[in-house]
Amino acid sequence: MLPKNISHTKVPPIKCQGIKTKLVGFISNSIIWDGKGKWIEPFLGSGVVLFNIMPERALVSDINPHIINFYKSIQKGEITPSIAREYLEEEGAKLLEKGEEHYYEIRERFNEKGSPLDFLFVNRSCFNGLMRFNKKGGFNVPFCRKTDRFRPAYITKIVNQIDWISNVMKDKDWKFVTSDWQDTLSKADPNDFVYLDPPYVGRHTDYFTNWDEIQAEKLAKVTRALPCGFALSMWKENKYRTNDHLEKCWSGLEERNYSHFYHIGSRESLRNKMQEALIIQNGFASDYKERQIPKQLALNI
Ligand SMILES: C[S@@+](CC[C@H](N)C(=O)[O-])C[C@H]1O[C@@H](n2cnc3c(N)ncnc32)[C@H](O)[C@@H]1O
Repeated sequence: MLPKNISHTKVPPIKCQGIKTKLVGFISNSIIWDGKGKWIEPFLGSGVVLFNIMPERALVSDINPHIINFYKSIQKGEITPSIAREYLEEEGAKLLEKGEEHYYEIRERFNEKGSPLDFLFVNRSCFNGLMRFNKKGGFNVPFCRKTDRFRPAYITKIVNQIDWISNVMKDKDWKFVTSDWQDTLSKADPNDFVYLDPPYVGRHTDYFTNWDEIQAEKLAKVTRALPCGFALSMWKENKYRTNDHLEKCWSGLEERNYSHFYHIGSRESLRNKMQEALIIQNGFASDYKERQIPKQLALNI
């Protein structure tokens, strides 16, 4: 079932930093997998890779219970497109009326009760779509400061995203689990394929729990001993830095690269090249070579 050409990547209803929207086509074209086992994704995040690759069987997980509960609620039919619309219209109208105070009320309610709809609300109206929690597990991203955030077109966009993933999930054997990556990897069988997109060491460390060099090294060790194919996404280099961790822990495997540009400010001189690597278990890489995102699709990461 892989490689697969995905000409148009669809975006899921949940956003997070490090989302691989722009890399999905590159990832799906670079891997060879017959699809006989299950797709395993222990760092699910937004789920954009899973939802676009659409394997028949999957075991997907994240340490962040809110992401998993949200997708489980859709899978169980507890959140439907019409339920989401009704909720967003109601809360969006209150946001417009009461202003940012309402965002902070919902954020507090979410931190107390953890409702998946409130998670959707804060995720889609917080600053920059960041997914960030404090040490006590409380979501702490401030408001995006647009009180008219939930305009009709925006609500429709989110509802359509929910409609899309609920349809994709319907005929699939997908299991969503809240767990640490190591528990998930212990379920890997020889026909499975594992896709890894861990947090970057030293960056975005407050997704939900901390991620450090010790974890990153352990991940490489455990992954290399897996009985099945695997691929790992990792930044490789930019103008200022090279990721030493790749050389240290992931050498001797297949590597495919993808370059894109990000901007700091608006001037052309501040346009920086970033190279992403996809490390693939030997024997599971296609001959798809380096691709570069066209300038107009430059991505801020
Ligand atoms: C780079 S993001 C994944 C992004 C995802 N591929 C996407 O495109 O949206 C990393 C994810 O790993 C999760 N994570 C962090 N530490 C973890 C751990 N110890 N076990 C499992 N998941 C973890 C974070 O909650 C976050 O969702």
